[in-house]
Amino acid sequence: MTKRILSGVQPSGKLHLGNYFGAVKQHIALQDEGKCFYFIADYHALTTVRETARKVAEETKKPVDPGELLRQFTLDVALDYLALGLDPEKAVFFRQSDVPEVCELAWVLSTVTNMGLLERAVSYKDKIDKGIEPSVGLFTYPVLMAADILIYRSHVVPVGQDQVQHLEMTQDMAGKFNRAFGEVFPIPNYRLDRVARVPGTDGQKMSKSYGNTIEIFAEGKPLQKVVMSIKTDSKPLGTPLDPDTCNVFALYSLFATEAEREQLAEKYRAGAIGYGEAKKLLLAKIDEHFAAARQKRKELAQNLSYVEEVLRKGAEQARAEARQTMALVREAVGMKAQPQG
Ligand code: TRP
Repeated sequence: MTKRILSGVQPSGKLHLGNYFGAVKQHIALQDEGKCFYFIADYHALTTVRETARKVAEETKKPVDPGELLRQFTLDVALDYLALGLDPEKAVFFRQSDVPEVCELAWVLSTVTNMGLLERAVSYKDKIDKGIEPSVGLFTYPVLMAADILIYRSHVVPVGQDQVQHLEMTQDMAGKFNRAFGEVFPIPNYRLDRVARVPGTDGQKMSKSYGNTIEIFAEGKPLQKVVMSIKTDSKPLGTPLDPDTCNVFALYSLFATEAEREQLAEKYRAGAIGYGEAKKLLLAKIDEHFAAARQKRKELAQNLSYVEEVLRKGAEQARAEARQTMALVREAVGMKAQPQG
């Protein structure tokens, strides 16, 4: 049987380089390695969208409707992924909420999930610490995530390090379900991308919540401004610089060939380049790397009916799969395979 690969992306605004090197790039590459299911996790986004709307309203000093924001973010993810090379002929690409069966499975799984398991979730604690309302939905977020994975009987889930605990919980739920009701679910494995650290403009890990991101689809003046703001030490021009501790160098390395990387490192060590010039090299790399994707994204934004059609077809395929799994699940637990009436 071909390997099934699945991952979900939370719609939470424009994608940045951390998302790209941590997830998107490997999602796109995996399209040729198995049957891929990629979805936009809008049900999950409901746990945080009101808090996000509040923040955006505060920043822009304009009222923000959370439903409108979710619609916008969802479209952004669709455009970003299609522009960056997701091929709807190869991967099934859809909105999570177009397959509502996943909520039904989440309920069933919640009955084989211990409170203690969820109480140990690190990401739940992190989110409340950030001021997000501790709703039941936020608490049971890992159960819905497990349902996302298991409803397509996925084998491999490419994710970032921060999702590993959720995958372990999914394995736990799948195992418990299988032992109680019979083998319905393969036990999924996670797959970590072996990517170097992606530092943000302040040197911490690049993350929306730190406000230190470089957006993939920024360009021109705004992009230049962000790249020029990357934090460096204050060694004066002409003195030797240390590439290994430099954020600009770390980011440049993500785009450069081995030879280019070595060349720049030499210049750093020889004091033959300053941070300003290094930032310009980085900027050129970013522009070059994303030139085609930027063009494609603009075209897609002019052709939203095509984007909608991709998501509709994706949902159709995904839903057919989900319904087959749910028939097995319902039967296994003692219900009618199909709801009657
Ligand atoms: N929780 C994931 C994140 O924040 C998104 C997600 C939702 C997901 N459901 C999933 C990822 C299923 C992988 C599989 O990044």
